Amino acid sequence: MKTIIEPFRIKVVEPIRLTTPEERRGLLSAAGWNLFAIHSDDVIIDLLTDSGTSAMSAEQWGAVMRGDESYAGSPSFYRFEAAVRELMPFRHIIPTHQGRAAEAILFSIIGGPGKVVPSNTHFDTTRGNIEATGATALDLVTPQAHDPDEPYPFKGNIDLVRLERLLGESADRVPVVMLTVTNNAGGGQPVSLANIRAAAEIVHRHGKPLIIDGCRFAENAWFIKCREEGQGSRKVAEIVRDMFAVADGMIMSAKKDAFANIGGWLALNDDALAAAARNRLILTEGFPTYGGLAGRDLEAIAVGLHEIVDEQYLRYRVRTNEYIGEKLLSLGVPIVRPVGGHAVFVNARQLLPHIAPLNYPGQALAVSLYELGGVRACEIGTVMFGLKPDGTEQAAEMDLVRLAMPRRVYTQSHADYLVEVFAEVVQRREQLRGLRIVSQPTQLRHFTARFEPLP
Ligand SMILES: Cc1ncc(COP(=O)(O)O)c(C=O)c1O
Repeated sequence: MKTIIEPFRIKVVEPIRLTTPEERRGLLSAAGWNLFAIHSDDVIIDLLTDSGTSAMSAEQWGAVMRGDESYAGSPSFYRFEAAVRELMPFRHIIPTHQGRAAEAILFSIIGGPGKVVPSNTHFDTTRGNIEATGATALDLVTPQAHDPDEPYPFKGNIDLVRLERLLGESADRVPVVMLTVTNNAGGGQPVSLANIRAAAEIVHRHGKPLIIDGCRFAENAWFIKCREEGQGSRKVAEIVRDMFAVADGMIMSAKKDAFANIGGWLALNDDALAAAARNRLILTEGFPTYGGLAGRDLEAIAVGLHEIVDEQYLRYRVRTNEYIGEKLLSLGVPIVRPVGGHAVFVNARQLLPHIAPLNYPGQALAVSLYELGGVRACEIGTVMFGLKPDGTEQAAEMDLVRLAMPRRVYTQSHADYLVEVFAEVVQRREQLRGLRIVSQPTQLRHFTARFEPLP
């Protein structure tokens, strides 16, 4: 088979400033060894997130010019709404400025002390928004997900037995059940259509709504097409419609699988819940036909939703990460397998066994990738999840480093450069040191904590 090429040409370029390791050591010290505090023009390859970092297409930029900025009833909103409904046929589609705003609105209404919100794995902002109301965010991912080497094709699945048990024992405490597709915090792993349907059946039998966190819905559908029996000949758009047909609503960050730089939405079928959400939206985001976005953003999302289900794009997208994963494995770098949709997750705890989890092996690896190669990645481990609401600290289940691939941004030679940086890290791995935290906030500490390398 021929090389799976980037299925686009480059029309506009952004220069990359090539910094030196000496410069980067100074920048790391000034940033308190927190990569979120590094300026992006001091980064060579930015894999911090795939969120909001997509390259927009010529069609999207064209649509941006068509954006109608009317306060109420903008045609841009109706184009946005139609594009969402084409794939996700919910009754109420409520735009927000990004995904976490949709989460905050939903959980401010249905959360609260004593409530329990299960999911396969909550993303950090979802967990934060649930816990901020006093409710408990509960992860019920399938047991295969706990083994980074297990090649199970749907490691994002929710554990149906534990879900059934939870609802059987304490349904009165559960306002909604969630499913994150793909499962970002769990390694970008997909949820099968069979699992979505079975979860919906259980949830509905207990009289509860199922809400999908659909940030990476198209990548999830592509995996269903490639891996699930009986789905191979179906169109991705059809699979997407099936995924959402059994849900009662969704939260969405359009910064992922809508190729937009900003945006999101909350979609619901329940009229009363939607009315409460719109009231809240008006207080916190804006009028329901713009919801914290400009008309031009709504247009970019509408076109992006059409482009994201293109199967040539999805084939190239998933192959890029597989390619990086294969090269890393050949260097002896342990990664979560199979490779996820939007990112390669490196098992830092296994790569750096001499660094104890509470000295943050994931952060140590991320810092070293930046120092040696100007590559910015994201720790998904004890820094991100280790701080408990009562202020105590516990090692996360895994210490991973996420190499999140922005959509349509980097080429194969960027991927090859990344692999070369890893080769250097592997060579020096025994010299890498852990870190300690010198200051941190009470929630979502990975964004603003400051670190110091251990001697
Ligand atoms: C699975 C998942 N849910 C929710 C969010 C929050 O979306 P946003 O960053 O647009 O607020 C993210 C963002 O990374 C995510 O990956």
